[in-house]
Amino acid sequence: MLRAVTHRIALIPGDGAGPEVMAEARKAVDALGLDLEWTELPWGSVHYREHGAMMPPDGLDVVRRHDAILLGAVGDPSVPDHVTLWGLLLALRQGLDLWANLRPARLLDGVPSPLAGSPAVDMLFVRENTEGEYAGVGGRAHAGMELEVALETSVFTRAGVRRVVRYAFELAESRRGVLTSATKSNASRYGYVLWDEVVEEVAAEFPGVRHEHVLVDALAARMVTNPLSIDVVVASNLFGDVLTDIAAALQGGMGMAASASVAPSSGATPMFEPVHGSAPDIAGRGIANPVGAIWSAVLMLEQLGEGAAAHRLMRAIEAVCREGIRTADIGRRCDRDEGRGMTAFTAVLTCDPRHRKTLYRQGFPLAGL
Ligand code: NAI
Ligand code: MG
Repeated sequence: MLRAVTHRIALIPGDGAGPEVMAEARKAVDALGLDLEWTELPWGSVHYREHGAMMPPDGLDVVRRHDAILLGAVGDPSVPDHVTLWGLLLALRQGLDLWANLRPARLLDGVPSPLAGSPAVDMLFVRENTEGEYAGVGGRAHAGMELEVALETSVFTRAGVRRVVRYAFELAESRRGVLTSATKSNASRYGYVLWDEVVEEVAAEFPGVRHEHVLVDALAARMVTNPLSIDVVVASNLFGDVLTDIAAALQGGMGMAASASVAPSSGATPMFEPVHGSAPDIAGRGIANPVGAIWSAVLMLEQLGEGAAAHRLMRAIEAVCREGIRTADIGRRCDRDEGRGMTAFTAVLTCDPRHRKTLYRQGFPLAGL
């Protein structure tokens, strides 16, 4: 018989740096002392090499028995990227119909900005997560011949656009009250034109939110030239993906960025993951930045109704960053031994007594929970 626990978490460490950052996120969550149970699911490229699939055939049913999924990253140089992505990540996002991908981008105090003058960055991206350019519709003909053709069709449905746009308006209402819709409805004449129409329809329900339509290329530039002019952005699957890598850079780097894939009010198991990939160039060296993963756990705790714990963990991340304890990707080693960079971050975060002496000796004030 299963023990009654408040929260059951499916942990999918995945590939490359995924397991490393997930181990840190798990330590950080465990330090909060919640009634929570982890099920580790060894899905990913190793599973693919052994079984010919990234996850078992009943994978969706397995995760549905949990309250949340925390996922590291997928992608391995030995397996084509479209196989890993469609076999696990997109299979989960689409299979569970997790239609909104939330990606907050905030430059934390103490984290160096790539922009002169370190302008404030506090944006929230709401990315459509199940259709658009990643709908998986298309095909290839004349395989291998000179005539070969590849078609990739974007799919925009009125209902699919409406639900994500409405959610973005709701979120904008609870923030600075500005919603930017990113499209390309000058060159793309169908999908994005429908998108713009739906934004106008939904806007009528939210008189307190100022909304604007901005072409995605212009928005990419504005994110860099005037980041604080941007509050909430609603964007398609592809545009949201691209813009949030820029946003990650604005908040210090890929390792800082967190995300949540959710389907509000549906009862679907939500999924939380750092924005970055498996980072094969640095995997296995203990130098990956765990902040994006730990921040994703904060988003998870918020969705699980653990607002106070989420708040504590976010304050701890902010405090440790403010103290200058960081991994090499954001400008400083947090430990003389490169291999302990990420674990030192979490040790300070969680006030792990085993590290306390070393950290004091190195002059790192404890700033954890
Ligand atoms: P990536 O995000 O893995 O790496 C891009 C750059 O950011 C690299 O220089 C990497 O070292 C750095 N980086 C990433 N995470 C970091 C962290 N935590 N700390 C410090 N630096 C970090 O993207 P890339 O190289 O385009 O893709 C690598 C693999 O990951 C591919 O197989 C790709 O398909 C997959 N991928 C998977 C994603 C996911 O599972 N959500 C998302 C993006 C890519
Ligand atoms: Mg991406």
